[in-house]
Amino acid sequence: MKVNNTRANQGRLGPLRRIAHIVRRTLRPDPIELFFNLPYEERVREVKRLYSPEMKRLQLGNWLARSPEVVEHELGSNIRFFMDVITGYAFSLSPLSIMQWGAFTMTEGQYLSRAGFSGRFIASDFDSDHLAYLEQNLTGLQFDEIEFRNVDLENACADDFCGTSMAVALAVLSNIQPEGIQRLFEAISNSEIKCVVIGDMYVKESLNPDPETARSVPYSHCRNWCHPYLALAAAYDLQAQFIPDFTYSSFLEARGIFVVHKGITNEIHAAAVAEAIQHYFSRQPKIWAEYAGFDLSKPQITAVHSDQNEPGAA
Ligand SMILES: C[S@@+](CC[C@H](N)C(=O)[O-])C[C@H]1O[C@@H](n2cnc3c(N)ncnc32)[C@H](O)[C@@H]1O
Repeated sequence: MKVNNTRANQGRLGPLRRIAHIVRRTLRPDPIELFFNLPYEERVREVKRLYSPEMKRLQLGNWLARSPEVVEHELGSNIRFFMDVITGYAFSLSPLSIMQWGAFTMTEGQYLSRAGFSGRFIASDFDSDHLAYLEQNLTGLQFDEIEFRNVDLENACADDFCGTSMAVALAVLSNIQPEGIQRLFEAISNSEIKCVVIGDMYVKESLNPDPETARSVPYSHCRNWCHPYLALAAAYDLQAQFIPDFTYSSFLEARGIFVVHKGITNEIHAAAVAEAIQHYFSRQPKIWAEYAGFDLSKPQITAVHSDQNEPGAA
């Protein structure tokens, strides 16, 4: 029997499909949709459960057992231009200290140490157990001094950032709820911080620079938010630059770099990006050789930890 795939028949099947969809969703609700409909406190609790020490340990497996050569290869072939951009800003701004927000594998810290940033480094996370684990196990970084500080970005205040003028956050802020992101930008505005380099996902609507109309957009396939960083900066008397980025999941999720700052001149931005592109050029042979061997049909996006599914993930 031939399949009757005429347009007329498709039209008749349309309402049936819709009813089937509603029945399916009622019997087995979409967990992502459920998440975004939760009250604020429950959304925060769920993200913190997904990033609990136990869940982190499960994901990390025996990553500490990697040889120094493997670690060096992973850092050198990290596909994100973000890594070069934080290096560019570290050398162009020369801050006395840099703070990483959301330290999981501390890729940013490891990368900055490898690139030769020798100031003070502050690794922060809401999860003190994980910070203690990093302090005990991630030894050998080349900073003048390293501090592990508990900072909950959902409830940030200016004091959380004392002693630092530059912060970096890769794949962290999309885990923070829109209510918390407002407090965070207010805290940045009132703090000593001069520059925050954010690497995260975006959609067209979240690039809207107008604070009156821009909104955080929930992602449809994971529990992450695309926040309107450009508009948030404008709303809290900050400035922002956007630099495009690329990663393994870019075919499914766009990735960008948002440099939120206080009065950094265009000359300094240009110097930072020039430094970044030099780093990137020197790494390209490693990056694309690694990328060529990667199987894009492997699941890349699962839940909040999408970036963690990539080799040398950040
Ligand atoms: C995808 S990981 C970031 C990975 C990071 N680029 C790295 O290499 O370490 C997200 C991190 O954000 C942290 N995080 C989630 N919610 C947070 C919150 N409310 N405050 C501070 N950190 C949070 C998680 O504990 C986790 O370490």
